[in-house]
Amino acid sequence: MVQGSKNAALPIMAAALLHNGCTILHGCPKIADVFVMEQILQKLGVTTHWEGHSLFLDCHQVCGCSISSSETEKMRASVLLAGSLLGREKCVCMGYPGGCVIGRRPIDLHLEVFARMGADIQEDGDCLRVTADRLQGIRHRFPKVSVGATENAVLAAVGGEGWTILENTAREPEVTALCSFLKKMGVRIEDNGRGTLCILGGCILSDVEYVIPPDRIVAGTLLLAGAAVRGKITLFKAPVQQLDSLLTLYQKMGGQYLVSGGTLETDSRGVRNALPLTETGVYPGFPTDMQPLLMAVCCTLQGESRIREKVFENRFRVAKPLKEMGAKIRIRGAYAKIQGPAVLKGCPVEAMDLRAGAALVIAALCAAGETIIESCEYIERGYETLYQDINLLGGRIRKENDSIDETETTGIPAKNKKEITG
Ligand code: UD1
Repeated sequence: MVQGSKNAALPIMAAALLHNGCTILHGCPKIADVFVMEQILQKLGVTTHWEGHSLFLDCHQVCGCSISSSETEKMRASVLLAGSLLGREKCVCMGYPGGCVIGRRPIDLHLEVFARMGADIQEDGDCLRVTADRLQGIRHRFPKVSVGATENAVLAAVGGEGWTILENTAREPEVTALCSFLKKMGVRIEDNGRGTLCILGGCILSDVEYVIPPDRIVAGTLLLAGAAVRGKITLFKAPVQQLDSLLTLYQKMGGQYLVSGGTLETDSRGVRNALPLTETGVYPGFPTDMQPLLMAVCCTLQGESRIREKVFENRFRVAKPLKEMGAKIRIRGAYAKIQGPAVLKGCPVEAMDLRAGAALVIAALCAAGETIIESCEYIERGYETLYQDINLLGGRIRKENDSIDETETTGIPAKNKKEITG
């Protein structure tokens, strides 16, 4: 069963702040980033509790609009609280967002929308203060597609006056999920499906229960783990339509799959073909979040694969630890060349960010002997049950005690590759 989506849950948790009432999020993933967002919301006065995977948020007593940099530095998605606090309180004072180091991650596109809506923005060292007497609805065309800036603009527009029309918006499924959550809350939103969103500010909002959709990146991680070890995997509740670009590549590698209802069955026994050129891109293009995972799989393919990273310039960091494991990878600017098949050997490596960490788990499954992945707390920012899932699929992975904070993964010997249902 695929966990709820991190990148849908985080903006929706921020959106709950817009309503002076209660929100219940079912299927919310229990991962570190969600807990960080929950803690920040608590500090703002939100009462929270969990029942299983349902997160209850009571926003009646919101008592501030300041978030310290020690909180915001923990996670990039903290920036989404700017839009919702601005929408609700017309004021936010917060540190700059942190998050995985995967390239320059400015917030100019976010601030430009706030300014155009009439907000005053003051940047003071490591603190950002955004205030507005009133937020006016605007027509705004993003100069570049950004998931976070689209989400922040939508959140601010809910607290604005009249219609806000946003053009050249991100069309990622997580943006659609945020809009469908807000609609359920009572906001009028029109989406032409081609990158234009119209949001009516000032709607009367009501309590809402919402089911967080499954995580397409987690589903893709498991699919690619299966591809790397040439196994068979069954994924329940897989967001198949959102995996279109990945499934196309998977077939090119020689993988086969079957979809029935919400279940995706993959058979990787025929996976072998290198991928001449894969380019990351905004949705529905191939997601940058899956690029490090694909790179790990390319190490196992026959011949030269090439990847062009078009979203984040610094997202080839996983190449270094992969090379330490024996991968043959050359990086030139935004291009990576991966020569396969490489003989991967287990060794100590470091997870440098969330998806790089997951990519190392995939590589470790194909490597001879034991791999020790340090800084595995990165993996836990986004994956709730990756270690259990890998064990279920026939790999062997265990976490050392928390003070050491590293994960040992043992490769599956070729002769022991299993047919697995996960
Ligand atoms: C979100 C996802 C992240 C994913 C990324 C791209 C969440 C919590 N995170 O991140 O997992 O990898 O989308 O799909 O949903 N940019 C600017 N100025 C800005 C904002 C962005 O130049 O103000 C640039 C970025 O540097 C990057 C590109 O736009 O090159 C896309 O970034 P963006 O879509 O904003 O990513 P995030 O929302 O941070």
